[in-house]
Amino acid sequence: MTGRLAGRTAIVTGAASGIGAASAQLFAAEGAAVVAVDVPGAFKADAPPGVTVLEADITEADAPARIVAAALATGRLDIVFNNAGIGRNALAANMADADWDRVFDVNIRAVFRLTREAIPHLVKSPAGRIISTASVMAEGTDYGLAAYCASKAGVAGLTRTLALELGKHGVTANYLLPGAIRTGMTSPLWDANPGAAEVWAKKSVLRRLGEPIDLARAALFLASDDAGFVTGQGLAVDGGLTLRV
Ligand SMILES: NC(=O)c1ccc[n+]([C@@H]2O[C@H](COP(=O)([O-])OP(=O)(O)OC[C@H]3O[C@@H](n4cnc5c(N)ncnc54)[C@H](O)[C@@H]3O)[C@@H](O)[C@H]2O)c1
Repeated sequence: MTGRLAGRTAIVTGAASGIGAASAQLFAAEGAAVVAVDVPGAFKADAPPGVTVLEADITEADAPARIVAAALATGRLDIVFNNAGIGRNALAANMADADWDRVFDVNIRAVFRLTREAIPHLVKSPAGRIISTASVMAEGTDYGLAAYCASKAGVAGLTRTLALELGKHGVTANYLLPGAIRTGMTSPLWDANPGAAEVWAKKSVLRRLGEPIDLARAALFLASDDAGFVTGQGLAVDGGLTLRV
């Protein structure tokens, strides 16, 4: 097998749609054995070659053990791409506890729990990699995004600490800050309101929305040997959306 991830085993969460689906496919095309994780019923199409589908809600108590065991069936675990994420839009004054808790359960608690389960195996890899999808909203904000922004800022803090603690084992930990990307999360909103998609596209200095493959390529870089000396960093993949103050 050839490719930039040849011989490696990767876990990708949120892999039935958007950024995760594009990443699972690209990682596999680059030679990785990929365990693609998403909630039951989310996978609609057959898995591409090199991709094994695992249906799991990452917030379930036994999900980390099930997911890591599926990866170890290949004999190793090298890459964890914590990508699954959700939003719940409500002004802070009106946000229900259940919405706050669900966002934190998916976007940060499950990221921590899966990563913790993976660490004993990542440290045995010659090139252990932790990549997590945060958001430009880890640093910026918008109305209704209190839980989302706080959880994504948490991903950044968690990742920096993982980088610090695991560096001596040669494991890197980095996070992505996607801008406005056309995925299952955003398409329904933008299809219903094409003007909003246009506004977001214009905010990018490249004058377009991002596509899932834009993030998949950045994740591949962080997963590959090319990023062997990059750790604790956030990589904005936003078409320059956040350049202007
Ligand atoms: N689309 C954007 O503009 C944008 C911008 C910034 C950050 N992000 C982040 O990118 C990541 C990927 O999102 P996307 O845009 O590709 O959206 P998406 O909705 O297309 O994909 C997210 C996937 O995560 C899965 N998922 C959600 N909860 C899960 C759970 N509990 N267990 C397992 N899987 C679960 C969903 O079923 C879905 O398939 C998310 O973390 C999101 O917050 C997206």
